[in-house]
Amino acid sequence: MSFTADCLLLFGATGDLAQRMLLPSLCALGADGLIPPDLRIVGTARQDLDDHSYRNFARAALEKYMPADRRGAMAEFLNRLHYQPLDANETAHFALLAAKVGTPQHGLSIFLSTAPSLFEPTIAGLVASGLAGEKVRIGLEKPLGTDLETSRQINDAVARAFPEDRIFRIDHYLGKETVQNLLALRFANIMFEPLWNAAHIDHVQITVAETVGLEGRVGFYDGAGALRDMVQNHMLQLLSLVAMEPPAHYDSTSIRDEKVKVLRCLRLVAPDETVTGQYRAGAIAGQPVPGYDDELGKDSGTETFVAIKAHVDNWRWKGVPFYLRTGKRLPERVTEIVINFRRVPHSIFASKAARTEPNRLVIGIQPEENLTLSLMAKVPGLDRDGIRLRPVPLDIAMDDAFAGPTKRIAYERLLLDLIEGDQTLFVRRDEVEAQWDWIDAIRASWAEHGLRPKPYTAGSWGPSAAIALAERDGVTWHE
Ligand code: BG6
Repeated sequence: MSFTADCLLLFGATGDLAQRMLLPSLCALGADGLIPPDLRIVGTARQDLDDHSYRNFARAALEKYMPADRRGAMAEFLNRLHYQPLDANETAHFALLAAKVGTPQHGLSIFLSTAPSLFEPTIAGLVASGLAGEKVRIGLEKPLGTDLETSRQINDAVARAFPEDRIFRIDHYLGKETVQNLLALRFANIMFEPLWNAAHIDHVQITVAETVGLEGRVGFYDGAGALRDMVQNHMLQLLSLVAMEPPAHYDSTSIRDEKVKVLRCLRLVAPDETVTGQYRAGAIAGQPVPGYDDELGKDSGTETFVAIKAHVDNWRWKGVPFYLRTGKRLPERVTEIVINFRRVPHSIFASKAARTEPNRLVIGIQPEENLTLSLMAKVPGLDRDGIRLRPVPLDIAMDDAFAGPTKRIAYERLLLDLIEGDQTLFVRRDEVEAQWDWIDAIRASWAEHGLRPKPYTAGSWGPSAAIALAERDGVTWHE
């Protein structure tokens, strides 16, 4: 149903995500006049606050996490905020919450960022208090379960109260401008699509490297690990955008239909096609950092690094490996997709110095957004010993190309879409379940083969076995 909500209800309103991302995003949207002027924002969490103390809480968060030049309309924004304390296990609390929300004139958008164990009681409370009617849509923040079964339970519970077209599952990578640009790159240019297949692409690499460690998320992370925290969602979404067939339209059904087809084509991963690791003490940018076990305060078998050789078994991608790797405490923060093309079928240049390297397209997602296409060129000279060739980069830095438009963080885009009701950048149930299906099989194989994470030094690119995973196929990770 199409409506622009005039009330936004934030569960988890005092949490880390709210402080770092949600409140700053909403404040920025308000400052730029992008959310309805009459939009009320009701926050709820266990903490015992009232409107006044929540506004103070929000002010402190904005001062900490929002750049000073973006805080222009802060006072006006704080006036939109209201607060109602709530324990999700107390059904009676939902009646008070419903009273605080009142009856929005156009509709209500809910953003649920709570522990997975609170999903079901929260949904039940929303239904019981009349906060799940036709003019209500709900956004769900990850983690949506820990495996296929628990994710189904959550999806079933939500589906009992909301139809799929009012459920917005968040994967914040889809809100990143640069990730959306993948669609523009692939489908707004004629030159890539004819080459975007197994006949012309040798392999694909997707790297999501982070320098941070546990960041205080001890309880959550140790129960999750890199595979479930990063691959199940963000990396599989990147993979499906790279591998999908051209959708007929830029709309939620066409795009999600194509992504889910890719996810269903993922081949079961063989035991020797994954490597896991856990960081030990080391140094990042010259600063010493403790090992994972030290940060955690106990021994743990949780992986903080994973590398996978994946395959998409369909006509387009048959035989093209997708090498995925992600980890914490790696040497730099970088997310990139590397498309490695095949060699030319025959080289006309005979001399040794004229060896042709395959073309390579590097799509930089963050921290910098850039596209680099490496092309072979002739080295200038008279070529008395034969022609010499060398790869040269064709570089596009998006920051230079688009200096004017404001850069938006992912949650600005996603919150606006949730308020306005556009599902294109949200994950559909069948996608989440296909993702879990593949991830569960990997975890089952790890358990069956007693795989333990290999140690790697913080500040390195993961265990050496991850390098070997690619090198035994003659592939070098792009660094
Ligand atoms: C989150 C993970 O989903 O994504 C975190 O739970 C991770 O562990 C984060 O640090 C990375 O997001 P970004 O936007 O900084 O790449």
